[in-house]
Amino acid sequence: MKVLGIETSCDETAAAVVEDGVRLLSNVVSSSMDLHAKYGGVIPEIAARSHIEAILPVIQQALSDADCDWDDIDAIAVTYGAGLLGSLLVGVLAARTLAIVKQKPLYAINHVEGHIYANFLTETSLPGYQLPARQPLFPMLGVIVSGGHSQLVVWRDHFDYTLLGQTQDDAIGEAFDKVAKILGLPYPGGVNVSKKAAEGDPRAFQLPKARMQGKYDFSFSGLKTAVLRLAQEQVGKDYSLPSIALPELLSDAQKANIAASFQRVACETIVDKVLLACDEFQPESVVVGGGVAANTELRRQLATRLPFPIEYTDMKLCGDNGAMIAALGSYYALLGRPVTDPHTLEAMPNLSM
Ligand code: KG4
Ligand code: ZN
Repeated sequence: MKVLGIETSCDETAAAVVEDGVRLLSNVVSSSMDLHAKYGGVIPEIAARSHIEAILPVIQQALSDADCDWDDIDAIAVTYGAGLLGSLLVGVLAARTLAIVKQKPLYAINHVEGHIYANFLTETSLPGYQLPARQPLFPMLGVIVSGGHSQLVVWRDHFDYTLLGQTQDDAIGEAFDKVAKILGLPYPGGVNVSKKAAEGDPRAFQLPKARMQGKYDFSFSGLKTAVLRLAQEQVGKDYSLPSIALPELLSDAQKANIAASFQRVACETIVDKVLLACDEFQPESVVVGGGVAANTELRRQLATRLPFPIEYTDMKLCGDNGAMIAALGSYYALLGRPVTDPHTLEAMPNLSM
């Protein structure tokens, strides 16, 4: 059973082929990130236009890397939400057209669920991938930490899950990106905050953790504002100093200490609630998905505070990719889930779990 996965929800045009829900045969990602860097964030129109240019070559490359032609492909899976409308449309329309023309079943995939399913890939002959030795066991606690989402979800089995809680404002990745801007670190922010934090003292500053009504809910917007106030205070100015004036007033050491203190508290916020959920639901596995799953401080805290080890997917499968979509699509196909009508599937930018 070979499934082609297509992902275009943000600035990555991605396609991959997965076999039997476990084996990664190809994984092609073309990012328009460089085009957005000078604006300090993704420009939706540029992302959508880049997808149009990249989508067919990326799909072709994914098939050829997997040594497949269309006869070998059993189904197509595509991200239909959540994400940027213009970006999603390109992947959805390509998948719909290919499903009709090549007469393949089509599965519509929720991007956020997909992030968790990257962790179900355990085999590949592609060079340079480090995959988990075994698949996660159910009940599974899913920790989704991306640029658009921060969620805790308990899966009792495939397609049988409960959302425990989620962010009420910014996602954790978004907070990393905003702190990067405050500190004048280049886009993409998360990885650069993490690099800067490595030079700083994570206990240099005390920053607040939001107290939420929902036991498993998150909030990161207060933490981001606290970082802004801290930076203003560090340069001896009040709240009226615009954030764009901060980077040149902050020393390298101040930036590193702010980055490290922010990163520690942001990760603790997630890990505190992962521990609570582990106590309550006693999962057999904890699985982390989304761009921030690549963060080494988050991994370190989980390793020291959880009573059992976590296996992670390869760093290249933490951010957006087609493999996670093909992986989840494989379970739709293998478990006989209903197919999607390729004539009517619509992109859903605000799709939730
Ligand atoms: O999952 P993803 O690629 O896209 C979304 O679905 O949103 O996540 C992107 C987010 C961005 O906010 C990025 O700054 C963050 O993941 N990110 C990181 C790291 N690598 C990517 N945040 C912290 N540390 C990292 N190493
Ligand atoms: Zn994502």
